[in-house]
Amino acid sequence: MAQDGQRTLAALVGSTPIVELRNLSPRPGVRLFAKLEGQNPSGSVKDRIAVAMLDAAEESGALRPGATLVEASTGNTAIALAALAPRRGYRVRVVLPKGIVPSIADILDLYGAEIEWCEPEAGMRGAIRRVQELAEQPGYYAVGQFSDPANVRCHYATTGEEIARAMERVDVFVAGIGTGGTITGVARRLREQWPDVQIVGVEPRLGERLQGLRSLSEGYIPPLLDLGLLDRRFLVDSASAIAAARDVMRAEGVFAGVSSGAALHTALRVAEGMESRNIVMMFSDGAWKYLPSRPWDATGADAEALDEVHWW
Ligand SMILES: Cc1ncc(COP(=O)(O)O)c(C=O)c1O
Repeated sequence: MAQDGQRTLAALVGSTPIVELRNLSPRPGVRLFAKLEGQNPSGSVKDRIAVAMLDAAEESGALRPGATLVEASTGNTAIALAALAPRRGYRVRVVLPKGIVPSIADILDLYGAEIEWCEPEAGMRGAIRRVQELAEQPGYYAVGQFSDPANVRCHYATTGEEIARAMERVDVFVAGIGTGGTITGVARRLREQWPDVQIVGVEPRLGERLQGLRSLSEGYIPPLLDLGLLDRRFLVDSASAIAAARDVMRAEGVFAGVSSGAALHTALRVAEGMESRNIVMMFSDGAWKYLPSRPWDATGADAEALDEVHWW
């Protein structure tokens, strides 16, 4: 329990629960466990890195009091910064490509972040360019979740540590790959405890969008991702991820986001032919912010419709 002096929002980040998904287990010996990152204060795993990156930047002196943080994330990292950074005296400015899920902009706006739109054709590359421009101006600081080692370090020290302590044994760990921070940090910690743990990365199928995740096949290898730690990579299509997210709500009552569905879909494929294994999956966020765009309606209907929305 937090001491009185620690009753801050940041003190609530991490220490997320792990729930066993008994109804979705394909065979009695195959046990599925989901780490529920949606329980973090702003609703996703990214609260962890927001705190860690701000701590590191303050410590190094790179981040000065009163600065405006700039970020080109189209989702959870921006939301985490918008929720947590103002508590420490920073303003947050987020550059977003037009066409992203509208609820993301609403959430950022409600938290008080400034939003700057860029043309959708420029996509995330355009947004990143704009952030670099801003970061060259005095008073701005670019948060670099794709390059900041604090990202991996915090997943090693918190997410990985929590799983290692909570579980008697982990045979398989499944996580989506965005920056690669989660899978790299957690895999390092779990390998210390269980050297033969199988590490499985989840990516969107080429040309498809899954919020928060990147396809390595598109040619971008996130610099923080240690590919040598991965035993397998799974490519998941949006429709399967969305269908699996619905399954987990119906079968288990867990309100899982789309990348959680992708992790579950992957875990069930990996479990094929296994008799007795503990599989831990990252459920990186809940489903709330996806509700306004109704992804569940699109599955099984017109597959084209899935591609028209920038899920993330
Ligand atoms: C919902 C969701 N799942 C998974 C990930 C991937 O995590 P990481 O960036 O640590 O690889 C992200 C990252 O943005 C995300 O937003």
